[in-house]
Amino acid sequence: MFESLTLSNLPEKQCGILREMSSTRPRIWLLQENGVNAIVKDFSSNRRVYRNTVGRFLIWREAKAYRKIQHIQGVPSLYRAIDGLAMVTEYIPGKDLGQIKRGAIFPDNFFDRLKNLVDRIHAEGVAHCDLKRKANVILGDDNLPYIIDWGASIFSDEFRLPLMNLIYRRFIVDDYMAIIKIKLHYVPNQVTERERLRYFRRSPVERAIRHIRDILRNTLQKIV
Ligand SMILES: Nc1ncnc2c1ncn2[C@@H]1O[C@H](COP(=O)(O)OP(=O)(O)O)[C@@H](O)[C@H]1O
Ligand SMILES: [Mg+2]
Repeated sequence: MFESLTLSNLPEKQCGILREMSSTRPRIWLLQENGVNAIVKDFSSNRRVYRNTVGRFLIWREAKAYRKIQHIQGVPSLYRAIDGLAMVTEYIPGKDLGQIKRGAIFPDNFFDRLKNLVDRIHAEGVAHCDLKRKANVILGDDNLPYIIDWGASIFSDEFRLPLMNLIYRRFIVDDYMAIIKIKLHYVPNQVTERERLRYFRRSPVERAIRHIRDILRNTLQKIV
């Protein structure tokens, strides 16, 4: 699908820009071929050094994640990657949560379904790691949740060593925390007591792991 698409004929074949590029973000094109709607996440116009480092890395990571989980209902299909700089995926008709205001009415069970979707993704050994950004969750026109933007995701098989495994689990917990945060924003009355406790009162072990992670991150940032 979309086999004839290249980076150079993309401007002729596209049928709109969903989001313009910025210095750090790719351009998102809309595309249609034989009645199939797709989006293209495209770093090819970003600055040369940026697109060849960060751009290529993010497309590689995101495509890798899609190959692991695109069979799951709620994850768009990956059609193809183009020259390591762009990626064509299924277009999900709907609205991302970044566009939905607090107080909006959501379909019944939407947030249970979202949690369920995250469970199924975790069961495949993938953690999203960027669910706190609401715009990465889409409320589909079919009333179902979809999760996009897998560039920051990590895979359990990369974290097999004992301590690394703890870090991976921390990110799994963070995905759930992000869902609780989204629920607190839109449907606070659906947040259970258990979730509230989990969100507001982390256990000492969790806090310790978080602390170690923060120290590691700060040290790394100083070195790099
Ligand atoms: N498959 C898709 N279907 C529908 N809209 C999408 C899709 N992918 C991205 N979008 C829209 O484009 C926005 C940016 O895409 P995203 O993959 O999150 O890029 P970024 O890494 O720049 O955040 C999303 O918040 C959403 O509104
Ligand atoms: Mg995003």
